Amino acid sequence: MNNPPQRVEHQLTDKGYVPVYTTGVVEQPWSSYSEADHAVWAQLFARQQQLLVGRASDEFIVAQRAMAMSAQRIPKFDELNPILRAATGWELVGVEGLLPELTFFDHLAHRRFPVTWWIRTPEQMDYLSEPDLFHDLFGHVPLLMNPVFADYMQAYGRGGVKAHGIGPEALVNLTRLYWYTAEFGLIRQADGLRIYGSGIVSSKGESIHCLESAAPNRIGFGLERIMRTRYRIDTYQKTYFVIDSFEQLFDATLPDFTPIYKKLALQDSVAAGAVLDTDAVFNRGSGEGWLADGDV
Ligand code: PHE
Ligand code: CO
Repeated sequence: MNNPPQRVEHQLTDKGYVPVYTTGVVEQPWSSYSEADHAVWAQLFARQQQLLVGRASDEFIVAQRAMAMSAQRIPKFDELNPILRAATGWELVGVEGLLPELTFFDHLAHRRFPVTWWIRTPEQMDYLSEPDLFHDLFGHVPLLMNPVFADYMQAYGRGGVKAHGIGPEALVNLTRLYWYTAEFGLIRQADGLRIYGSGIVSSKGESIHCLESAAPNRIGFGLERIMRTRYRIDTYQKTYFVIDSFEQLFDATLPDFTPIYKKLALQDSVAAGAVLDTDAVFNRGSGEGWLADGDV
């Protein structure tokens, strides 16, 4: 099996125009990976591993160690699955790329995490505009070994199915939560702020920027605050939200969101770089390098 990704069409989502792929689960074509593919994995792995010392959250490091993915070769999903299943009951399924929203939610609701089977080219080491195997596997999968985070992700999937039934505005609110937690979340540890979001963990530039740059806001987690806040898909985030623990995240998202969606429908959204006077501010961003448009 060595087919190229099957793109359906570019669809306008709240992430802008993104390629959305066929819904089917595919078997990971492991034997078709080239030596160049494995070398991309190995290089990215080594680079991020070094950057994550003192930057990734303890939970991420512990989970990553427990999973023990190969640093040298692209891991086989089939070899990771028994480890993941034993830890939290999650499993990985191979996919061509971004899925239609309801399909994605349904996987999460059933503790299946969709992982893109293909990896970026050597020319795309620092940036690509859609998730690939490195982002999904290195970035998202380790924390599925953490019991609390694992439950959060399933609850998110169930909430997604529900929001999808409520309407597009509810979905926009919910997607922002995923963006500012699972993708770009920070966590406060005894020894300082750390990264847990996979979009950061898998990015060379942003893993430094999010913690060390004066440009972005770093603001304490607030459920409705996040659900109102637009974001950027084409640059580093203007704002990162900081949780105290995964328990805080799980507990805060436990209530039925239906009345929250109703309430938020009557409120304006918040710009990606805004600071509100109700915010718990860790860092008020200098705004250096910010583009004036492009929040979605
Ligand atoms: N509690 C949310 C709801 O009722 C579901 C949810 C859980 C959403 C966890 C996000 C994260 O819609
Ligand atoms: Co992602």
